[in-house]
Parts: sequence; C-alpha cells; structure tokens
Amino acid sequence: MSNYQNIIVEIDGEAATITLNRPEKKNAMSPALHEEMTYALREVRDAKVKVLVLTGAGNAFIGGMDLEKCFFDPFDDPDKFREGTEWSFEWMRHLKAFPAVTIAKVNGWCFGGGMEVVGLCDIAIVAEESTWGLSEVNFGIFPGGGTTWTVAHNMAFRKQALYYSLTADTFDGKKAVELGWASKAVPLAELDAVTQKVVDGLLTKNRIVLEKTKEVYERALDLNFPDSVDYEIAKLWELSRLTKNEWIRVALNSFKKREYKPGLETYELPSEA
Ligand code: COA
Repeated sequence: MSNYQNIIVEIDGEAATITLNRPEKKNAMSPALHEEMTYALREVRDAKVKVLVLTGAGNAFIGGMDLEKCFFDPFDDPDKFREGTEWSFEWMRHLKAFPAVTIAKVNGWCFGGGMEVVGLCDIAIVAEESTWGLSEVNFGIFPGGGTTWTVAHNMAFRKQALYYSLTADTFDGKKAVELGWASKAVPLAELDAVTQKVVDGLLTKNRIVLEKTKEVYERALDLNFPDSVDYEIAKLWELSRLTKNEWIRVALNSFKKREYKPGLETYELPSEA
C-alpha cells in the first residue's frame, strides 16, 4: 500500500517523514489512518532509513484517537470495534520497536493517543505553543490502549503522572519537557529548522550504531546491573561485527592520529576513491 489517503510518507535518502494528514479533524487517528500507519512503518523500515520524523498537518500534531470512528460508531459491533483498535496496536507496537531513530515533531494539539505516540518515540522536539493533555477522563474513561503505559514510562514521578491522568489539565511544550514527554521545546517558528538540525546530526552517525544504542537502552531498563553489563558486552561484539569494526578501524584509528575530537564531533568515513 503506498496510495495513502490519511498520511503523507516522504523518504529522502536516509531520512523519512510521516505526516498525519487529517488537519480538518486535528489529525485524529481513525481506523483507516491506523491501517495506513501500519503499512507506512513497514515501508519506511524496509527503506533502512536512519531517522523517521512523525508530525501533523495544520495546527495539530495528533488530536488523539478519532472518538467517533474508533469508538462511538463501531461500539455495538464488537468485530468492527476490535478491528479498528488492532490496527492501532499493531503500528504502535512496531513504532516502539522501530529500528530507526524516531522523532515526534509536535507542532500543535496533542491529546490522549497523540501523547501515546510521542511517548513511544525516541526523541520529541516540540513547539512551546503546543497544547497537551490526557483528556480521557473528560470523556469518561482512563488513558487506555497503551497510553497509561507511556505515562508511566515517560513521566518521572507518580504525583505528576496521576495528577495529569486524573485532572486532564492541559500543559504547553515547555512543561512537556519538564514532565519528561519532550526532549526540547522551541518556538513554533523554529520547530522545522531545529528538527532538521537534529536529523542532520543523526544522519552523520552509523545506522547500526543508532539501532544498537536503542536496543541496549530498551533492555537496560529491565535488567539488573550485572546482567546489563553482560548484555552490553555481547551487543558490542554484535555491533563490531555488523559494522566491520568501524569503531576501531576508522574512528579510533583516526583519533589515534589526532585527526578529530570524539567529544565534539563524529568520525568521518574515508572517501571510497
Ligand atoms: N476525534 C474525532 N474528531 C475530532 C477529534 C477526535 N479526537 N479531535 C478533533 N476532532 C474534530 C472536531 O470534532 C471537529 O470536527 P467538525 O469539523 O466535524 O465539527 C474538527 O476535528 C475540528 O476540531 P474543533 O474542535 O473544531 O477544533 P478546536 O481548535 O476548536 O479544538 C481540540 C481542538 C483538539 C481542543 C478539540 O477538537 C478536542 O477537544 N478534540 C478532542 C481531543 C481529545 O480528547 N482527543 C481524544 C484523546 S484519545
């Protein structure tokens, strides 16, 4: 499937962007959009990009689940209801385990399921003016379908996680950084440029190194220290083999010749000529 109706997929070399494109509905995620996201993530993964940026068209990032199309309309038809939600679980599980670096570029409204999407990304660069909220209690449920999991894994403290889950108070992009939802907040006018700078920096890194950095982080969250050390050593040898020892052969060889300062910059690959 590449004829998408609800999203725009752009693959430019080693960087991809998926724009949720229902601006007239604040990019609310309908079953059809969920299905398209499932195929789009596979397409982007198969392109072996280094970075995937997710963003929204218009003045919304994601207005959450489409409350009518996902819940209200199919409520009395259990099979239809389940079908819609299963598409969402499928791409969100894939997003969580995505090999490339995922960046949420939050340009505006970000509610409920939209916060879940941000919470599953690796990096979030957000407009200071964006408005966030766990709105579920405002329509009579709790943050479900994985949203509470992202609350628990992104917000540092119980008193904040439960405060925002229970009150549905909204907050802005700066507060999103403070609460652990976002990596950095910038004025909306600078959002594209700042995100592009981060993408450009990531593109200078080795794709496998980025992938392994994510894998090791995810496992380290669940392991005790000695097990994590063992896992990290094993993964280092896997990384070495997959990169043909690039870190020794190129990076540290270059450092030994004092050609660059690893604290401040990435090594350069020799030209193929
Ligand atoms: N599901 C379905 N439709 C949605 C939607 C959602 N989550 N969010 C917005 N829309 C629709 C609106 O119903 C409206 O449709 P209409 O033109 O047919 O009336 C359209 O998008 C534009 O939204 P509108 O409410 O007019 O824009 P606004 O700028 O005044 O307010 C929001 C924006 C995001 C504050 C408001 O739309 C809202 O509260 N949305 C629901 C947010 C939410 O609780 N999401 C669920 C989390 S799981």
